[in-house]
Amino acid sequence: MIRTRVNLRKYGNLTLTIRRHTVYYWCMVHVSYLKLQELALRVANNLPRPLFYLEHVSFTARAEEMLKSHELIRKCHARLNMSRLECAHGICHCEAVARDAGAILLAEGRLRGMSDSTLAPLFLSAIVAGLLHDIKRAEQDHAVRGSIEAALILKELSMDERSRSYVAYAIRNHEAFKTTCDLDDKEGCMVSDALYDADKFRWGPDNFTTTLWLMVEAHNTPPEALHRTFKEKMRGIEKIKETFRTDTGKRYGPEFIDQGITIGNAIYEEMSELLANRD
Ligand SMILES: [Fe+2]
Ligand SMILES: [Fe+2]
Repeated sequence: MIRTRVNLRKYGNLTLTIRRHTVYYWCMVHVSYLKLQELALRVANNLPRPLFYLEHVSFTARAEEMLKSHELIRKCHARLNMSRLECAHGICHCEAVARDAGAILLAEGRLRGMSDSTLAPLFLSAIVAGLLHDIKRAEQDHAVRGSIEAALILKELSMDERSRSYVAYAIRNHEAFKTTCDLDDKEGCMVSDALYDADKFRWGPDNFTTTLWLMVEAHNTPPEALHRTFKEKMRGIEKIKETFRTDTGKRYGPEFIDQGITIGNAIYEEMSELLANRD
């Protein structure tokens, strides 16, 4: 290996100038991203509340109540706080998924004419699965690792074996464009599919008003790079519309995605203008 000694002192002024330019560049990037996020929130606020929430007020309220009051869920929360959740998929994301997974499960139960006593343990499993589904989000194969971790946690917390296996299966199976439920157990599939659909609802407004900005901040993504890949990623999100698994998800999920795309298009237009004016 050839080593070259460089007299850094000689380049002192140059280093300082580059550092100043770098600091200035990232300040401008930060300001641009704040503007874009504000625009995303404005567009989102002008969109109607998704029909899922309007037509399932009581189911979402029951899921929210359960999230606040159930002992096992409270203990799962404590485990989440200790885990290293990736910033963009933090507690807020997990709580929203848990609430909607519970509500979807109740909606599916009603469609299938299931009794309250049959639904109760499945409702709890769906909420717990939602809360824990991204517990290993910062790691490779987060669905598989998260499923193993959740099974361990729930064993420690003495959740019954059947519910534990439903939660673990649902978490293992929550990623898009992978296998759908291959369990020979209708109730296990209900929990798994409810988790999947609730997680994919998040690719609607939530993604463009919150997750996207946490990700670009965490990864220091330059606007040029975000702009270059934006349309392609939007096409990927559009495809999620075809993947909803429950009847409830199929009915209400596409609206979430369409709303996300509307916000995404507004962001892309504004970002194109910002970049063009800067050049
Ligand atoms: Fe995930
Ligand atoms: Fe998620």
